Amino acid sequence: MSRVRVADLSFQALGVVKEPQFCFVAGALAGEEIEIGPIYGRKKFPQADLLRVVKPSPSRQQARCQHYDSCGGCQLQHLHYPEQLSFKEQNLRYQLSRFAGLQSLPKVEVLSEQPFAWRHRLRLHQRGGRLGFFAANSHDLVAIERCEIATDGINGLLAWLGPLVAEQSQHISQIELLQDEFGQLALATQGLSPLPQDWGPQLLQSAPVANLLWWHQVSTQGKGQGLNNVYGLHSQQLHPGQHWLRYRLGELEFQYSPLYFTQVNLAINKAMVAQALDWLALKGDESVLDLFCGMGNISLPLAKQAARVVGVELSQASIEHAQHNAKRNQIGNVQFQTGDLFKPRGQWLRQPGSVVVLDPPRKGAAEVIAALDWSEVEKVLYVSCNVSSLAHDLALLLPKGFALSRLSAMDMFPNSYHTEAMVLLTRVN
Ligand SMILES: C[S@@+](CC[C@H](N)C(=O)[O-])C[C@H]1O[C@@H](n2cnc3c(N)ncnc32)[C@H](O)[C@@H]1O
Repeated sequence: MSRVRVADLSFQALGVVKEPQFCFVAGALAGEEIEIGPIYGRKKFPQADLLRVVKPSPSRQQARCQHYDSCGGCQLQHLHYPEQLSFKEQNLRYQLSRFAGLQSLPKVEVLSEQPFAWRHRLRLHQRGGRLGFFAANSHDLVAIERCEIATDGINGLLAWLGPLVAEQSQHISQIELLQDEFGQLALATQGLSPLPQDWGPQLLQSAPVANLLWWHQVSTQGKGQGLNNVYGLHSQQLHPGQHWLRYRLGELEFQYSPLYFTQVNLAINKAMVAQALDWLALKGDESVLDLFCGMGNISLPLAKQAARVVGVELSQASIEHAQHNAKRNQIGNVQFQTGDLFKPRGQWLRQPGSVVVLDPPRKGAAEVIAALDWSEVEKVLYVSCNVSSLAHDLALLLPKGFALSRLSAMDMFPNSYHTEAMVLLTRVN
């Protein structure tokens, strides 16, 4: 055991100790004096356990979650919420100045909503008949009875389902619990085999709400496939009838099934799309290309203000949702198509229009940035869930004649270290 001072907070929200030996300490805050255990782990990533906080930071608070010390889901519950926002803002500034080569940055506009009960979908793993999350950097299950960042409806489902899952542990490896904006609850289970026929109706009868929606997905690709990887999954609908989850963006209503990508924080999603519309300030004559468009979350609100929108996305099912939602909302000036944007092909590469929206997964959008003809593009709106790939992509985009004019840190994932960012690039030459 040794007593050390925490010099800084890493971008993954780990305390950084520099003296007498460099190491990372989860749960420690910058400026604190702490006691740590022996250093372990890889040479490039030495870690030590936090044994005691001797002199706490004034920014430290008691974590609300009973599982916080063992669960790997949240990393920042012990930091006051306003400081969490500053941490994310600084992280964004650091990554952009270091890796996008930007010396001066516009003011960071911060979007935040409530730090707890914001998660409208929650994915849990099943091991040994118990439901939970994995501990940080491991596949050890931490059984969860309640999750403070999830909505109350999801916590109600979890309390009911936890004991029942033990009976069907051979059929269920993961569970996703959802609550939509209007309170509708849904369940998506995933396993390597279909559920027994009688189990669905029995379980639905004992559910805490009468109209629970439930899909079971059978993986055809073997163990370890996440629910997001829906391409190799066969879906079994266990509730009767045709029902959807829903959310609203202004005058538009989106319907969705739990099986495909949707934003997890509905309040921040509303603020994010409103900010995108505000920043782009479309006049009505623009052609917009929305890449990684999902189910049209950004494309459809933009289509209300542009001449036309083309949306491209890998998931056929998301494209079908986008088309369905365009039709329901009577939007005719939008066209959606499937395409793998990591191997981009298509006419739209040569004629992207005057506005391009990029909202890629964590890996970023390097391939499509390289392939697209940017010469006629006036504005680029980039939404990112990974500030590191954002910085690298900006280093590719800015030399194509753009300047960074707006910058925002959006707290899509409060209490975690993850930072969602939005930037607006405008043509300078
Ligand atoms: C961060 S989400 C954004 C979705 C949408 N813009 C929204 O606001 O909901 C990223 C999207 O990229 C899609 N995607 C992942 N890999 C892709 C690929 N190789 N080509 C095209 N789309 C991909 C995902 O299916 C997902 O819909």
